[in-house]
Amino acid sequence: TSKQRLLVVANRLPVSAVRHGEDSWQLEMSVGGLVTALLGVKEFDTRWIGWAGVNVPDEIGQKALAKALDEKRCIPVFLDEEVVHQYYNGYCNNILWPLFHYIGLPQEDRLATTRSFQSQFDAYKKANQLFADVVNEHYEEGDVVWCHDYHLMFLPKCLKERNSKMKVGWFLHTPFPSSEIHRMLPSRLELLRSVLAADLVGFHTYDYARHFVSACTRILGLEGTPEGVEDQGKLTRIAAFPVGIDSERFIKALELPEVQDHMKVLKQRFAGRKVMLGVDRLDMIKGIPQKILAFEKFLEENPNWRNKVVLLQIAVPTRTDVPEYQKLTSQVHEIVGRINGRFGSLTAVPIHHLDRSLDFHELCALYAVTDVALVTSLRDGMNLVSYEYVACQESKKGVLILSEFAGAAQSLGAGAILVNPWNVTEVASSIGYALNMPADEREKRHHHNFKHVISHTAQEWASTFVSELNVTIVEAQLRT
Ligand code: UDP
Ligand code: G6P
Repeated sequence: TSKQRLLVVANRLPVSAVRHGEDSWQLEMSVGGLVTALLGVKEFDTRWIGWAGVNVPDEIGQKALAKALDEKRCIPVFLDEEVVHQYYNGYCNNILWPLFHYIGLPQEDRLATTRSFQSQFDAYKKANQLFADVVNEHYEEGDVVWCHDYHLMFLPKCLKERNSKMKVGWFLHTPFPSSEIHRMLPSRLELLRSVLAADLVGFHTYDYARHFVSACTRILGLEGTPEGVEDQGKLTRIAAFPVGIDSERFIKALELPEVQDHMKVLKQRFAGRKVMLGVDRLDMIKGIPQKILAFEKFLEENPNWRNKVVLLQIAVPTRTDVPEYQKLTSQVHEIVGRINGRFGSLTAVPIHHLDRSLDFHELCALYAVTDVALVTSLRDGMNLVSYEYVACQESKKGVLILSEFAGAAQSLGAGAILVNPWNVTEVASSIGYALNMPADEREKRHHHNFKHVISHTAQEWASTFVSELNVTIVEAQLRT
């Protein structure tokens, strides 16, 4: 039983910590596609290294938390409040995240932005070095070190500088934008160079990989080959590895009594109405205002549907210290209030909007009983909610309306109704099309997607990435 040792390094650990006393901690499941994907990875001897989502200034607290996390095979990286503010709220979520999703750089106060930029970038590098220190402390020869996402673009370089033999992979869970977008970033050169220090660099789609390669050729002037990017004889392998989910976990959950109970309650609650479902972190990339406005247009144009359909929107609070996210929250609340005021009655409202997360069982029940899922991301690396919906719809065969700007559109495109979320008219008419779709068409479309979801799992994603990384290193040794 000599499983390959794998160190997974990501800003977000699968559990986030809540303090209950001087030395007592409660661990809660973290939300997000990255965590969901990595939880589905099983065949390795895995340790996680990451941030537990809290500031722990005291040693007693740190020791107790490290011990609690150890039971989950997690190792904490402690970041102080100022670093979190500049690195996580600032550079990661106010600069890189919007840029990689084509929202652009913050513009409200251009000069202030430009000035704070440098200190945020410095904090970003410092935070990445702190992650590297923890990796080095736990690294054993032969380990595969798999770095994740836009928070840790500096990490491959930090690791390789200290140990050039370490097997280092890096995977991006977001889109990588066109080089024309990446060009705007003041730190465009340094970030690309640090990522290239890895042996293997992975993306969800071929398009993202191609964008990255052209950023390297156009911005760094390096040579792109079919295999990757070459710099003075050193090849960094670049490829697409589309992520999936642990579909069995969802399918099996539907049989559990507690999930069945939730399903019963939901069915009674919405008897006589069709239910449309949205599940997103409350993030500007998810196109939540666009989705709700399209639903309003649908109600406007289809008076006969007004008391026969309801939109359930689960909007999980996220990155709440970043001003853009606070603005989005009030914007969404305002639109929901207006539409419910306009189309609601004494006994029912058309939109149920929840600002909270659900536990796994509630979520599975919702996926299973709803008639249509609406995913309207303006950009989205993959979007696993769409996969999860499909996995839970074997009996109902509901319809998936999916943004063409989600990575998932490339794999679920044939079964879903693809829409441009910016085109409110198109989304509104797709809602009508989905609600009226005959059973045989629903069945055909669902079957198509279901086949894909159960045959492209998170486990397969991870094994492919890790074996490709091992092969890449052997090939590099053969070349020298
Ligand atoms: N999710 C969750 N609790 C919730 C709502 C969502 O754990 O209350 C999970 C959901 O099951 C999915 C993930 O959050 O696995 C969202 O991933 P996705 O790729 O759709 O988007 P991301 O949040 O990563 O941008
Ligand atoms: C996306 C990112 C992940 C992140 C998740 C939740 O999926 O790609 O890296 O973990 O959102 O966001 P958070 O900021 O709470 O970690």
